[in-house]
Amino acid sequence: MCGIVGFVGQKQAAPILLDGLSRLEYRGYDSAGIAVITPEHTIDLRKAEGRLKVLNDMTDGGNNVHGCIGIGHTRWATHGVPNSTNSHPHMSEGGKFAVIHNGIVENYIEIKDFLIKQGVHFQSETDTEVIAQLLEFYYNECHDFFESVGRVLRRIRGAYALGILCADCTDRIIAVRKDTPLLLGFGEGENYIASDVTALLPYTRDVVYMDDGEMAILTKDSVQIFDAMQQPIEKAHQHIDWDLSAAEKGGYPHFMLKEIFEQPDALRHAISPHLRDDRVVFDDMKLKPEQIKDFTRLVIVACGSSYHVGVLGKYTLERTLRRSVEVQLASEFRYCDPIVDDKTLVIFISQSGETLDTMEALKEAKKRGAYTLSIVNVVGSSIARGSDDVIYTWAGPEIAVATTKAYSTQLAVVNMLALVFGEVLGTIDPTEYAQTVSELKKLPEKMESVLSHHEDIQKYAAQHFNHNSVFFIGRNLDYALGLEGSLKLKEISYIHSEAYASGELKHGTISLMEEGTLVIALGTYGKLFEKAQSNIVEVKARGAEVLALTTESRREEMRKTVSTVLTIPDTVDMLLPNLGVVPLQLLAYYVALQRGCDIDKPRNLAKSVTVE
Ligand code: M6R
Repeated sequence: MCGIVGFVGQKQAAPILLDGLSRLEYRGYDSAGIAVITPEHTIDLRKAEGRLKVLNDMTDGGNNVHGCIGIGHTRWATHGVPNSTNSHPHMSEGGKFAVIHNGIVENYIEIKDFLIKQGVHFQSETDTEVIAQLLEFYYNECHDFFESVGRVLRRIRGAYALGILCADCTDRIIAVRKDTPLLLGFGEGENYIASDVTALLPYTRDVVYMDDGEMAILTKDSVQIFDAMQQPIEKAHQHIDWDLSAAEKGGYPHFMLKEIFEQPDALRHAISPHLRDDRVVFDDMKLKPEQIKDFTRLVIVACGSSYHVGVLGKYTLERTLRRSVEVQLASEFRYCDPIVDDKTLVIFISQSGETLDTMEALKEAKKRGAYTLSIVNVVGSSIARGSDDVIYTWAGPEIAVATTKAYSTQLAVVNMLALVFGEVLGTIDPTEYAQTVSELKKLPEKMESVLSHHEDIQKYAAQHFNHNSVFFIGRNLDYALGLEGSLKLKEISYIHSEAYASGELKHGTISLMEEGTLVIALGTYGKLFEKAQSNIVEVKARGAEVLALTTESRREEMRKTVSTVLTIPDTVDMLLPNLGVVPLQLLAYYVALQRGCDIDKPRNLAKSVTVE
């Protein structure tokens, strides 16, 4: 995610803002900016694309920007490409307001259209600029900073952490939080805001974490906090005693664990922009319904975990669309003289948007006239730019090499695509559609419930981390889920592991089963539950030690076959893997932890594979 810092006090703000932003660099960003209220009561805005050093050089380390109150931001592009115009802070046209924002304004297009009709001119492609412009619009009506912020909050929909300056109120910052982290820091004659406590550690360890819907007014001598009804409230301060490295990871020992726990929020960001009145819509997608109807072939191309999302996508899309869907590894696709033409839709899935094999496969598909749609996390990345259409996953920056939240959000996008295409083609039953949308909405909460059982998995890992070889078995969606569980385990724990379609056991793999072989048996898919049980009986008969995963409603039934059973909440078939992956990620994590592995940076692996 992007980074937020704000300062109000008696010292020069800019050097403090730049220092705070430098402590958020580890989160990833592509541009940075600061806005400071000058002694002349104007807002001095400085922004630069690229590393923070560019902004530092431009401002002489902040020394040529004068004023004791300001806000700063590092941007990780979402709406609009990475450049200095799209970077934050964003100013209103009349120069009264400067805004920094983490999150997404879902209804920004509608608000932008409204403001343009009122004669407002926009500079950037961002959703954030509508906040600055709308603030000035309301301020021109009511001439009250606090009231204008309240009106804006009632008008916008989405997730936001905001830091706001007003040139007419030169002693204060207003901070707001909804669904995106923001905290307040308290000093002597100075106060702070930040998206992440890391930014504040050299200045203060006395903080308050804001809750959803809360607003705060910070001056150098006071911090007033308000609830969602804008009534003043008191909040207890917390003392942070983490060291810097722990603080960067939000108190988690590894980025991977932090990112596993960030998944419910990442899902909220991935799903909510596409939900409108109980329907799934992709507003920004250029693909027209007629084109969707005209495609004769549908191919998914990706690498690694993104490929595993593709394998799940094949099952889900085929079932929903009643059309054949092919899934291919990008490294194979590019050299197999692929049969794609202008009647083919090729979907590319990539977290980084820079994976060389996927990029080359994209070029190959385009050369042959296919329509290319990419599902990408990093905005403005090569694959996003090179595709005819792009859907972003909004997972935020992923730092651990082993992907978790990017995988989960890619999967949610593929699920939503199945609903949208199914509706266009008329192949999805309206009741199933409605039920799936309702379950999509509950997905983040259900995932939180899975995460709350992490200690059970930790205990299991503590007893089973010493295996040399592990098998993941399952059928259909559970097989595809096993591919990801197996990859997670091997890449970070270095244990050899295989994912097998259970029906294939008898065709070879079962010869490897012996006393003590560890088998993770995936039996979440209800339609094939009995078959999953039969396969468990087969491997147990050869001495395998089995850990089973199923849904809560089938726990007791599964217990008749296996004593160690993990469960996930029940949901519609399509979304079972979205929940099922979490225990597998946690298992891989805790096993690797027991084995003393370098979890965030496993040997021989890179986060983004930009070589062949
Ligand atoms: O950035 P991409 O999604 O294109 O990356 C694809 C793979 O390199 C990636 O998923 C890799 O398999 C991860 N290390 C898995 O955790």
